[in-house]
Amino acid sequence: MRLIPCLLLPTLMLAAESPTFAKDIGPLLTKRCTECHGEKKAKGGLRLDSLEATLKGGKEGPVVVPGQGLKSELYEVVTKPEGDADIMPPKGKPLTSEQAALIRAWIDAGAK
Ligand code: HEC
Repeated sequence: MRLIPCLLLPTLMLAAESPTFAKDIGPLLTKRCTECHGEKKAKGGLRLDSLEATLKGGKEGPVVVPGQGLKSELYEVVTKPEGDADIMPPKGKPLTSEQAALIRAWIDAGAK
């Protein structure tokens, strides 16, 4: 029994390093983005309510470059300064720096 924590720890650390859409990103986007980027409304032709749709992008093309968070519009728009014309979400509080970092970590890890 005493072995279990040791076996579990590497798994947990790995999970913390690589966020997934299902576990981390989907719930965040659903909370802050899909009201405008979902089934009913898809502003800019962009839906963020599934991994497939998020990777597909909007009318201007992909917003995620897997492996390259800093080059991804999805990350860029949530890190604009408050009040910027292009910040997402355009209303309500900006994402926290932790939430933005999570999006970047997810893209850097390959956007799975
Ligand atoms: C209140 C509505 C609203 C919410 C909430 C919202 N957006 Fe948007 N989003 C827009 C509008 C409007 C546009 C501009 C569409 C256009 O230019 O035609 C846009 C455009 C975008 C684009 C650019 C699409 C492209 O291809 O040019 C991205 C990326 C984006 N939003 C991401 C997000 C993310 C991520 C969130 C959540 C953190 C979010 N949005 C929340 C309304 C919203």
